[in-house]
Amino acid sequence: VSGRVAIVGAGPGDPELLTLRAVRELERAELVLYDALVSPEVLALAPNAQRFSVGKRAFRPSMRQETIHALMIRAARRGKRVVRLKGGDPFVFGRGGEEVLALRAAGIPYEVVPGISSSVSAPALAGIPVTHRGLAAAFTVVSGHAEAAWRPVLAGIAPRGHTVVVLMGLAARGAIAAFLLERGFAPTTPTALLLAAGTPRAHTWIGPLEALAGFEVPVGLADAPGTIVVGDVVGLSPAALRREAAEGDGEAYAHAR
Ligand SMILES: C[S@@+](CC[C@H](N)C(=O)[O-])C[C@H]1O[C@@H](n2cnc3c(N)ncnc32)[C@H](O)[C@@H]1O
Repeated sequence: VSGRVAIVGAGPGDPELLTLRAVRELERAELVLYDALVSPEVLALAPNAQRFSVGKRAFRPSMRQETIHALMIRAARRGKRVVRLKGGDPFVFGRGGEEVLALRAAGIPYEVVPGISSSVSAPALAGIPVTHRGLAAAFTVVSGHAEAAWRPVLAGIAPRGHTVVVLMGLAARGAIAAFLLERGFAPTTPTALLLAAGTPRAHTWIGPLEALAGFEVPVGLADAPGTIVVGDVVGLSPAALRREAAEGDGEAYAHAR
């Protein structure tokens, strides 16, 4: 086998936030299999490659994971340099682990190129330090996709001194907020919902935890990915500070960037 596969994290979407190694792999790639959340600007860095969307958000039903494995393996066996390009970091809720196991089982040489996960880039781009001395000694990243997965994790988190980051949690935001409030989180706990972070459509909502359920996704962002951050560190973001300044004016707890 002379081909190989690089499992590459594309970061938040802005090409400036790719790693140098990711750029080098894209420039050399002959085939790029990319996810729906990868931006056109990042794909443009692979001008010599055939590019295929294997993403989950296309109008077509998503490609089966096994089909993606088979495509990578077949192309590598034909001697191609393949890049499997994923949003954020490939190993953070990205099924990169399964792809690595499949490549290993097939004896295909591979490399993993980490990317900046939205679990840290979305807060950082909104000016939220997920740990901040005196406010949060740890942060937990959980998927909001299935209640059976997030419930036991969030049940173990004390209301203060910790930051909760939820990926894939837009649909469950009401249930997650209700659960945290039940567990003793203060209704005023600063909370952020960061939509399409790192893209030109980025939209930041900041408000108290008790208002998270009522947040309405702006028209035009209905399909945007969103990251939720709960904890006192959210209060350090410029949008939260503006909100504080505006409080008393009857200003809503919402700020678009
Ligand atoms: C299937 S997970 C993949 C996560 C990815 N591997 C990472 O490390 O960022 C997709 C989730 O990531 C989050 N996400 C991805 N891109 C985002 C963005 N631009 N802004 C905010 N959240 C984003 C959302 O919570 C979305 O539901």
